[in-house]
Amino acid sequence: MNGSNTQDVQFEIINYLDHSYKKDVKEEIREGLTARQKTINCKYFYDARGSRLFEDICTLPEYYVTRTELSILRNCAAEMVNFFDSGDLMELGCGSSKKIEVLLDGLGGDRRGKSSYLPVDISETAVIDSSRALTAMYPELKVTAIVADITRQMAMITTERPCALLFLGSTIGNFSASERFDFLSGIASSMKSEDRLLLAFDMVKDIGILEAAYNDSRGVTAEFNKNALLVVNREVDGNFDPSNFAHVAHFDEDNLRIEMHLRALKACLVKCNALEMEIAFEEGETIHTENSHKFTPSGIEAIVGQSGFNIEASYSDPEHWFSIMELSAV
Ligand code: AVI
Repeated sequence: MNGSNTQDVQFEIINYLDHSYKKDVKEEIREGLTARQKTINCKYFYDARGSRLFEDICTLPEYYVTRTELSILRNCAAEMVNFFDSGDLMELGCGSSKKIEVLLDGLGGDRRGKSSYLPVDISETAVIDSSRALTAMYPELKVTAIVADITRQMAMITTERPCALLFLGSTIGNFSASERFDFLSGIASSMKSEDRLLLAFDMVKDIGILEAAYNDSRGVTAEFNKNALLVVNREVDGNFDPSNFAHVAHFDEDNLRIEMHLRALKACLVKCNALEMEIAFEEGETIHTENSHKFTPSGIEAIVGQSGFNIEASYSDPEHWFSIMELSAV
């Protein structure tokens, strides 16, 4: 693996977010904020504060996603990791360590001792927190934390050993159709015959349940959404005032997705000094900050087939709210 190494007391950290990446970030923000429908890519939610807000979202009563996925993992962990003897467990967009703990418990001490855990996330805080928790809990497990943008840098992250790739949480739902195809087909083409991808999908369900999950009563999702403005302020020396924007989330039935936006409460002018530009907002105008696609069984079959995967197994909850697919490369 390439990348800059930092030695920690208990685990290694490899950071791929180099200087050229920072330049790309500025250009991506410029492009999004000057588009007809203004956008901020949802990966900009996840600085240290955003990652912690997301962890809070995962525990909210309305956000059924995490607890449903965890219930599937708890019921099926041993079966799900049956294919894996030793090698690398690479978790993409790692988030909290709770889910991987369930799988590592399913693996048992012998197989853990012969394996490495590689959490990959754009947020350094997220990978460090997760690695710290896991090295304390499983001293026999080797951990290498990787800070990278999985939407752009997957080709750099390769492993020689048999690999179980985990892409959980239905984060695939945050990709557009073309991003999803590029990402999944890139992974499929780099997988060895013994490798498996555990890929999670949030399923289409009652609109009331879906919309409540993204409009929680404590307003944590609203804070998470507005955090993107603070991240943009830091990246491009901007002066967005989050209190000038309202959180909006609704289910778009045509595209089977929750759309999150930030709506300007009044007309305003925002400076982005590092981009040498000012952005004008009309009252009511929105910035589109996230899509969270929801899936149907036939939609999943088409997506994984077109991306170059065979379905080895699939796991769900009794209400079929969430699915985890075990995939091999064709
Ligand atoms: C990370 N991702 C799967 C979450 C989702 O549900 O789309 C992000 C999120 N956005 C609002 N709440 C949670």
